[in-house]
Amino acid sequence: MPVDRPEGGTAPTAKGARIDLRGMTKRFGASVAVDDCTLTVEPGEFMTFLGPSGSGKTTTLNMIAGFTDISAGGLEIDDLPVGGIPAHKRDIGVVFQHYALFPHMTVAQNIAFPLRQRKIPKAERQRMVAAALETVQLPDHAARYPGELSGGQQQRVALARAIVFSPRVLLMDEPLGALDRKLREFLQLEIKRIHREVGSTFVFVTHDQEEALILSDRIAVFNNAKIEQVGTAHELYERPATLFVARFLGESTILRGTARPDGAGSTLVGDGFAVRTAGRVEGGEGGTAALVVRPERLRLTTDDPAGIPSGTNAVPVTVVEEIYLGAARKLEVILPGGARGLVREQAGALSDLRVGDRATLCWHPDDGVLLPDDPTIERIFT
Ligand SMILES: Nc1ncnc2c1ncn2[C@@H]1O[C@H](COP(=O)(O)OP(=O)(O)OP(=O)(O)O)[C@@H](O)[C@H]1O
Ligand SMILES: [Mg+2]
Repeated sequence: MPVDRPEGGTAPTAKGARIDLRGMTKRFGASVAVDDCTLTVEPGEFMTFLGPSGSGKTTTLNMIAGFTDISAGGLEIDDLPVGGIPAHKRDIGVVFQHYALFPHMTVAQNIAFPLRQRKIPKAERQRMVAAALETVQLPDHAARYPGELSGGQQQRVALARAIVFSPRVLLMDEPLGALDRKLREFLQLEIKRIHREVGSTFVFVTHDQEEALILSDRIAVFNNAKIEQVGTAHELYERPATLFVARFLGESTILRGTARPDGAGSTLVGDGFAVRTAGRVEGGEGGTAALVVRPERLRLTTDDPAGIPSGTNAVPVTVVEEIYLGAARKLEVILPGGARGLVREQAGALSDLRVGDRATLCWHPDDGVLLPDDPTIERIFT
């Protein structure tokens, strides 16, 4: 399979449109569903909206599609304000979670529907339908009715119907949400392939972080009607801008305490530990802060703590859980003060530690990300 761009990179294509959200806002009565969102989706990019239920993902997508009016702010597609343009004139394909195929029409008739709307002549229509069926790998299913297809096949037909008129933008709202895990994983790869083949700009909504990591050039993380951070999966994982993003994408150990400036970085003093970090938090001196360290950045040792180099952070812990993963294992540890930590050990580099053992948790100061604490965060995630 040809790969025409580096993983995680973006490549402008002639086929994909640029989408600019400029302070886009949606109010329903007194409540704000989307609050002042600004974001550029580059031509040909695969952008994913990731966030918990009710965070504003679908509402944002509906405003781009033209199904929902914008309350304030602007929306431009290829530098043209599209606020007043009806959905069917926006050159946008849409796929939803529930297939929404016309049950009384065959697969071919379903896929031809947007072509009929656009008054494409019959011969041309047949050719385009056949090509779309080829793209979604259902060439032999043209004469079937939706009721005669599996959920995954129906969703592929919906995808064919959305791409058949070569829209410059394809919007997908949890298109795989109703499918079982195996089929979902298979279709994720299919969608990635189709994105490469058609070259349109894709905006994909999910609340599944793994799905977002697999598919996206970039991810916009939604929380509470706002976009918290936009970046590649790598940027969001390695340098989360907020505690919410750190918690929503991947696992981590979170140490809470008071941050004091220390040289170019800070020292975080918490319950039973004092550790160094390269970062500073806004709010400066004495601010309560949270230090986020990813599991693969942490190491457990039973060596004499006196022998640990002075530049390395070292915190005494007790191992409370072992999670076997085949190619790796995760050890859950309890930190002083009762917080839980998570350490990932690769097979081939496993320690001898077992549940109940005491050890020292070590990491380099550069491997922690210091963020302002957010006391509401644990309520969201527990
Ligand atoms: N038509 C509507 N009228 C009133 N409130 C609405 C309407 N549509 C959405 N909302 C509210 O706007 C907020 C954002 O909803 P939205 O559907 O965009 O969330 P979402 O991120 O897509 O969530 P999910 O993952 O559950 O699909 C929610 O609080 C929701 O209740
Ligand atoms: Mg939704």
